[in-house]
Amino acid sequence: MIVTIIGARPQFVKAAILSQALKANDINELLIHTGQHYDYKMSEIFFEELNIPGVAHNLNVGSANHGAQTAEMMTTIEQILLTQKEQIKAVMVYGDTNSTVAGALVAAKLHIPIIHVEAGLRSFDKKMPEEVNRIVTDHISDTLFCSSTEGVQQLAKEGIVNNVHDVGDIMYDAVNTFKVKSKAPDDKNLLDLTQQPYHLVTIHRPSNTDDAAQLQKIIAAFAAQPNTQFIWPVHPRNKKTLAALNLPPNLYTCEPLSYFEMMYVLQHCTRVITDSGGLQKEAYWMQKPCITMRNTTEWVETLQNNWNQLCDFEHSSFESCFNQYPNVSSWQPLYGSGNAAQKMVAIIKQQY
Ligand code: UD1
Repeated sequence: MIVTIIGARPQFVKAAILSQALKANDINELLIHTGQHYDYKMSEIFFEELNIPGVAHNLNVGSANHGAQTAEMMTTIEQILLTQKEQIKAVMVYGDTNSTVAGALVAAKLHIPIIHVEAGLRSFDKKMPEEVNRIVTDHISDTLFCSSTEGVQQLAKEGIVNNVHDVGDIMYDAVNTFKVKSKAPDDKNLLDLTQQPYHLVTIHRPSNTDDAAQLQKIIAAFAAQPNTQFIWPVHPRNKKTLAALNLPPNLYTCEPLSYFEMMYVLQHCTRVITDSGGLQKEAYWMQKPCITMRNTTEWVETLQNNWNQLCDFEHSSFESCFNQYPNVSSWQPLYGSGNAAQKMVAIIKQQY
C-alpha cells in the first residue's frame, strides 16, 4: 500500500491524476488529507469535481503558525502510519507545502520510503517557506520524481543522484485531462467579464500580500492600465487585506474558483499575472503569456522567449513586462509530454 499525503489545493489536482493511475495498476492507496486547506472552495470542491477517491483520514489541522501547523500534522500522521506500518510500502508527498514536509519527516523517522513528486525545484530564496520544505523533503526522499532535467541537475549538485527520475510534470497530465471539462464560472458578473479580453490574476504569496507597500505597488500597476480588465480570484488569506483597499474599477476580485472554472478563465484570458508556481506552468501549456510577480521562479524554462517574465518592480517594471508579448511561434512543449503519471506508476510498481 502507498500512503499519499496531501493538504493544499494544487496537491489535490496532482493527486487526482496519480490516484487514478495507481488504481488502474491495482496499486492500493491510502489517502491522508492534512486539512491545511479547508474552505469548501479550497478543498472539498476539488474532491467533488476531480473525482478523487475517498480520503481515509482528514486531520483537519486548519491554519496556524508554521511550527504549530506542521507539528500538528506530524503528530497525527505518525499515529496513523504506526497503526498500519507493516502494510505501507512507501509514503508519497507532492511539491513543497507544509503538508509535504510533515509527511516526509514522519515517514523518514519511521524508516518508510518516501516518494517525492516535483523534486529538485529551487528558488534559492530561503525566506520562502516552500524553499525550506523542498530542500528538506528532497534530502530525505528515496524516490525522486522531477518535472525536468533542470531538477535532476539541481539534485545532483546537492549530491542526490540515486533514484532520481525525470518523468515530466504531472500538472501537464492534469491540464490535458481536465481542460475539456472547463466550466463557465458560477459568478455571473465574472462570466460577463470573461466575454471581453481580460488578464487573469492570482497573487497569494506572503512576500506580495503581507507587505502592504508591495501589494499597493501591484494594485497601482493594474490601475495604470485602465483599458485592461484584470480578474482576480482571491485566496482566502488575502480577502480581508484586499477588501480594506481602494481597488481600481478595472480590477474585479472574486471568490476562489473551482479547477474546472479555472480551466475556463485560463483558456479565455489574454494573459496571466501570478505568483503561483502551478499557474505559471498552466499558462505556458495553454500558450498564454505570463507575468510572474516575483524576482525568482522555480520554473525557469518558462522564461524562454518571454513566455513568462519576472516582475519584482526592482529589476523590471510592470509596464515593461506588460508591453511585451512572446512570439507565438516560439512555443514548444515543456516539462514532458503529459504522461508523467504513467511513468511514475511504472517506476513505483517496479520498486515497491
Ligand atoms: C500553501 C502553500 C503554498 C501553496 C499554496 C497553494 C505552504 C507553506 N504554502 O500556501 O506553497 O502555493 O498553499 O494554494 O504550505 N486559508 C483559509 N482557508 C483555507 C486555507 C487557507 O482561510 O482553506 C487562509 C488562512 O488564513 C491561512 C492562510 O490562508 O492562515 C494561509 O494558508 P496556508 O495553508 O498556511 O498557506 P497558503 O498561503 O495557502
